[in-house]
Amino acid sequence: YGEFEFIVVSNRLPVDRVNDDDGNGSWRRSPGGLVTALAPVMEKADGAWVGWHGAADEALESFDHSEIRLVPVPLSAEEVEFYYEGFSNATLWPLYHDVIAPPEFHRHWWDSYRKVNERFAAETAAVAAEGATIWVQDYQLQLVPKLLREARPDLKIGFFNHIPFPPLEIYAQLPWRRQVIEGLLGADLIGFQRPSDASNFLRCVRRFLGLAVRQQQVQVKGADGSPDYVSRAEAFPISIDVQRIVDLANRPDIIERSQEIRRELGNPRHILLGVDRLDYTKGIGHRLKAYEELLADGLIQVEDAALIQVASPSRERVEQYRLLREEVEGAVGRINGTYDTIKNTAIRYLHHSYPVEEMVALYLAADVMLVTALRDGMNLVAKEYVAARTGNRGALVLSEFAGAADTLRQAILVNPHDIDGLKSAIRGALDMSASEATRRMRTMRRQVLQNDVERWSKAFLSELQKGAREDLLV
Ligand code: G6P
Repeated sequence: YGEFEFIVVSNRLPVDRVNDDDGNGSWRRSPGGLVTALAPVMEKADGAWVGWHGAADEALESFDHSEIRLVPVPLSAEEVEFYYEGFSNATLWPLYHDVIAPPEFHRHWWDSYRKVNERFAAETAAVAAEGATIWVQDYQLQLVPKLLREARPDLKIGFFNHIPFPPLEIYAQLPWRRQVIEGLLGADLIGFQRPSDASNFLRCVRRFLGLAVRQQQVQVKGADGSPDYVSRAEAFPISIDVQRIVDLANRPDIIERSQEIRRELGNPRHILLGVDRLDYTKGIGHRLKAYEELLADGLIQVEDAALIQVASPSRERVEQYRLLREEVEGAVGRINGTYDTIKNTAIRYLHHSYPVEEMVALYLAADVMLVTALRDGMNLVAKEYVAARTGNRGALVLSEFAGAADTLRQAILVNPHDIDGLKSAIRGALDMSASEATRRMRTMRRQVLQNDVERWSKAFLSELQKGAREDLLV
């Protein structure tokens, strides 16, 4: 047995290895909501994090980073292509996000996914102490719970899916639909973002494995004569390290930076902000279309309002992401070409990722935050914006297709497919009275402040320790 009592397993480690042309390596924070949520949890916990370090064909020893023990899992260049870019991000990602882009099904991608999941399970089994708690994360590693249970029946295994779980009618397309569900059912507890994700999953359990579901629990046959056990599926909406964002929002240099941003934009009456990985699930095109029409209708003037769109680079070798980049950049160029003046720019488009300090300065500067995802597991940017608004001002336009809409009910909720509705939501956000904005923001802040990521992880882990409700194994 290994030495660690608590292990998080995810495709990506919280830091990525970047190698320059001379072969010198350095570390950079990894993108995305999973790392945003789990890094603070792991900084406080005494445990290890097993994951890929972002570079191909490079095996690294375990090491400590920001007081977290990191255990790197290597991927070959072919596995990056088949397992990561292929099956994870061109099959599962679009399938689980309502087939916004068409998923591709290739058997050699699936073979690679299986093989890499086996490697993650083996590396985890090798470092886990007897009876350890293992928390497997996200769609890239859905086979790991079952593989781990077979290798190490002594472990307590949890799984959390950060992205949506699709309706049965969509999930049914997956040629390996049985194997994926069996993989997940290796966990004692399977966590989802929204109650609807958990119920979608349980419907698939019934339909594709023919198993009975009672009180969100399933009795599963143990492998090779080991006893049956119970697996449960429940919703645990994820959150952020709220205090960290609040502390940054109170820092004088960051407040000063937010005022500088406003000055640099020429002191417009309104600043609008979008912050997304450049991903087709985020509805950036719909947002730009609505904004373009508002400019065309004369309902927004370029002298009056500045839209900042931060689009952090993501999965750049996957074709759908390349196409999206062309589309978004074409739209921004067209809109700016039409509405800019020598003095004013309609849209500041920034294809970069920024440190959290700059992000918080942007949240402080923005009067209106636009989150218009077509489908999103949770969307932590919405929660960060709310946490940063220490003065209880500002308006959040939020897609009802993001998990965050379950709890942030005082946002201006929109269906991003409805361009007219989106336009009036944006205009409504700009026109909202200060007293109404404050009333809404205060309620949302209370919600976010009370439900931070530590509470989320504690809720999941204590439920995992509790074990199944007794009445099932009869
Ligand atoms: C989402 C996923 C994460 C993923 C992140 C960044 O938040 O849920 O699992 O790590 O996007 O994507 P990437 O492919 O760069 O890891």
